[in-house]
Amino acid sequence: MSNRKFVNEIFNTPPKSYWIDSTAETNYPALDKNINVDIAIIGGGIVGITAAYLLQKEGFKVAVIEANKIAHGTSAHTTAKITSQHGLIYNNLKKQMGEDKAKQYAEANESAIRFIENTVKENNIDCDFSLKSAYIYTKDNNYIKAIEDEVDAAKSLGIDAYYMKEIPLPFTVKAAMRFDNQAQFHPRKYLLAISNEISNKGVKIFENTRAVDIEEGDELSVVTEKGFKIHAKRIIISTHFPFYDGKGFYFSRMYVEKSYIIAIKTNEPFPEGMFINAEDPPRSMRSQRYKDGEMVIIAGENHKVGDETDTNSRYNNLIEFANETFKTQNILYRWSAQDCMTVDDVPYIGNLTSKTPNIYVATGFKKWGMTSGTAAALIIKDLIVKGDSPYLPVFYPSRTDISASAEEFINQNADVVKELVTGKLKAAPKDFKLENGEGRAVEVDGKKIGAYKDNKGNIHMVDKTCTHLGCELKWNDGEKSWDCPCHGSRFSIDGDIIEGPASKPLNHPDEQPNKINPNIFG
Ligand code: FES
Repeated sequence: MSNRKFVNEIFNTPPKSYWIDSTAETNYPALDKNINVDIAIIGGGIVGITAAYLLQKEGFKVAVIEANKIAHGTSAHTTAKITSQHGLIYNNLKKQMGEDKAKQYAEANESAIRFIENTVKENNIDCDFSLKSAYIYTKDNNYIKAIEDEVDAAKSLGIDAYYMKEIPLPFTVKAAMRFDNQAQFHPRKYLLAISNEISNKGVKIFENTRAVDIEEGDELSVVTEKGFKIHAKRIIISTHFPFYDGKGFYFSRMYVEKSYIIAIKTNEPFPEGMFINAEDPPRSMRSQRYKDGEMVIIAGENHKVGDETDTNSRYNNLIEFANETFKTQNILYRWSAQDCMTVDDVPYIGNLTSKTPNIYVATGFKKWGMTSGTAAALIIKDLIVKGDSPYLPVFYPSRTDISASAEEFINQNADVVKELVTGKLKAAPKDFKLENGEGRAVEVDGKKIGAYKDNKGNIHMVDKTCTHLGCELKWNDGEKSWDCPCHGSRFSIDGDIIEGPASKPLNHPDEQPNKINPNIFG
């Protein structure tokens, strides 16, 4: 069967995550009055929901607010591997941060795996949880030494790591590393079950409630879009990219990467294990129970948000890889994910800044959010309950010992500045003609407009200046959205927020004086 058939079929429908498609929508109320709690958690993904679960058990009065629906953002677009094997990281961590901090990283993530395992058992959660070995492999001779070094580093930190020359995938490899007792699950089944549990025990969950500001002072308050406030003694910001910076300068210390996922039906069973390669382009694989059989989830094709307009080509590359590797029967799903990347590959978990003792942040999980996000919730719970965590030093958000990564830091920062400046100055094309299904930046009467012509020929126009910090948005053709290259905010064709940190929708050029006639787009 040709690639083209699969490609045509899958591209006829918009991308949709299997995790969302296979679970019911939640229906928690929106906040409709001011409330007082001990702890306000902003963001209902894996960090927020896990932290609420832990803190409710400690007797705190907790509220979780989510701008859209809970467990619907990055936590619903992941590959949902639960592992302490985060690429080739431990050898570098040991070199850059020393043995103690590398060990903290390993232990925090191993504890997170065991926490999820125990939580599933204790609460009898039906979420396709299963223990698996995790493998990193290479087909490239240049990576053999790196894998050897990684096995040694991981072992020295107490992880059961094994060097291998063969793996159970249907191709030969040059070298591989295996961690045992790792796991995979269905993230929404897990998170929705926990949300239900905590809601029954008194945690207030509010959906469609966007936080737009935090008021600091004698008392902390979360200000929401509708003007209602949550007064709290402590606040946890778990909004993926922090929507509130508090002079922590997160916008200059992180960038956002996009990756793509397909789920396929194959003619042969997928081997035991979860797999990822060491070299570029990244290819990550796992199986997932699907109806009365299984499907294979394949992820990869990472790039900085906004660097690619033809995002469909990224799905095509994954489909090609699937067809070369497996006997593909059908492509069931495709979706994409965005992940926050820190300058030293280590998440920021702890106090937002050294001057905010009661505001906490968890971000920068660089695609390993199921485990690192759970570790973050455990660490923040300890900071609140005990005043300290044994893992705080490695994740401390205000760390300054990042000199080894200074070059990347500067490059990424320079990119942001470049986008801010050149995005503004570069003339947008003046060709207005749009085909159905096409989106493009155009310049009309000196205004930079994002215009999209839908399949019925209707024109949707936005002012394509990001409402976060003013970068120029770029068109994402695969998902029909306007994406920000600076910090990853995404907006729909009509300017609604799909993903933060932006907390305001896009302006509409047709709401301004000197309206633009949509007929000019043909
Ligand atoms: Fe920061 Fe757009 S997300 S400027």
